[in-house]
Amino acid sequence: MIVANRLPVDRHTLPDGTLGWRRSPGGLVSALEPVLRANEGAWIGWPGGTDEELEPFVEDGLDLVPVHLSAQEVEEFYEGFSNATLWPLYHDVVAKPEFHREWWDSYVTVNRRFAEKAAEVAADGATVWVHDYQLQLVPQMLRELRPDLRIGFYLHIPFPPTELFQQLPWRRQVLEGLLGADLIGFQLPGGAQNFIRLVRQRVGHKTHRDLVYLPDGRTVRAAAFPISIDAADFEELARSEPVRARAAEIREALGNPRKVFLGIDRLDYTKGIYARLRAYSELLEDGHFDVEDAVFVQVATPSRERVEQYRILRDEIDRLVGRINGDLGKIGRPAISYMHSSFPREEMAALYRAADIMVVTPLRDGMNLVAKEYVACRYDADGALVLSEFAGAAAELRQAWLINPYDINGMKSALLEAYRASDKERTRRMKAMRRTVVDHDVTTWAAEFLDELGQVRADHGKTVRPAHPS
Ligand code: G6P
Repeated sequence: MIVANRLPVDRHTLPDGTLGWRRSPGGLVSALEPVLRANEGAWIGWPGGTDEELEPFVEDGLDLVPVHLSAQEVEEFYEGFSNATLWPLYHDVVAKPEFHREWWDSYVTVNRRFAEKAAEVAADGATVWVHDYQLQLVPQMLRELRPDLRIGFYLHIPFPPTELFQQLPWRRQVLEGLLGADLIGFQLPGGAQNFIRLVRQRVGHKTHRDLVYLPDGRTVRAAAFPISIDAADFEELARSEPVRARAAEIREALGNPRKVFLGIDRLDYTKGIYARLRAYSELLEDGHFDVEDAVFVQVATPSRERVEQYRILRDEIDRLVGRINGDLGKIGRPAISYMHSSFPREEMAALYRAADIMVVTPLRDGMNLVAKEYVACRYDADGALVLSEFAGAAAELRQAWLINPYDINGMKSALLEAYRASDKERTRRMKAMRRTVVDHDVTTWAAEFLDELGQVRADHGKTVRPAHPS
């Protein structure tokens, strides 16, 4: 069973005023959906919105169990503690995290609701896999209710350095919440090490390498499991005739420039969109190419629109795009084609196929699945990837043009190198990256995590005792 803040589908109002479903945004859902399909489990999560209290339902073959949030909980638990406290804190404090006690109270209440729902639905001895920063207290709460369960937790975003994490007034409760799991997965080894160090320093448990020894005899393992995508599925989509035709149509609509740069992100301040557009515009200004040679397509998926930092960012990007297009565009030839919308997977695959240079420049990112999706779609072994060192994906995709997103000149040089790279150079790099993405897809990721979870319980599970023995 999967427990995640969001269900894979999101409630929204259709143009005719009725309510419908659409795919939820973000990397977590794209990674987990194929895993759930392969394992025939159920998914517990929030369906978006606050209006209706829904019963469990089946959508597109998936068993979905909704957890309702009130308007106040959306404000305090989701927009507040999850996305204005934890999100910036865990992403290197790129924006200033806000600490409010009532937001924390709401986080506890909602985490308890998720844990109770999971406890109610899970079969005897089931495996429950809890996901991401919104639900860090669920493992402990669930273990107290159902000690028979095998509980895994996976953090999709970075786990911060100890110095930053310690700012959190509720740091100990969060660490203890996570320790309710048998296995805690992180994107990178550094995140797992930060966690182990904090547990030793702040909670005082004994640790050895990646293991934590709890006073009740239980052992918890914390390790890295870099997440991936369904690479074969993306490749198949990219190879399909409609996607091919659409990719040609996109290039045509852009005026058949020599090169197309592409950015696809949730509109989030961690993604480094501002600096990337500036770097590109300066290359135009410096005369390295003009808008007939190279256009930039930027897709920014609407995200967390009621959180203040996201509103500020949207205005900043709107202004920057307007200024760049005003200064550097020509009639019928904007420098940047900017779309503030979300697209279906087919359109994304067509964009990946149409793009010569994929630009992924987050200031900090757990993994960044867009980078992997681009590679999976380039079965022609062409296309260049410019990738931030601060995305988890950089640990695997070493053959990308790696950049420091804070260094605009460095970013300009890398964009230019990728723009000028020979066919041979692009192919060499892309082939190597494709091997990585194809060999380590999301099925391997899930299998490694779930096998390991089985192991931890097999090794140490015998010592599990209920927290409240009857
Ligand atoms: C990231 C997070 C997910 C989150 C997604 C979309 O991928 O790791 O937990 O669901 O962004 O954000 P949202 O706030 O719309 O759920």
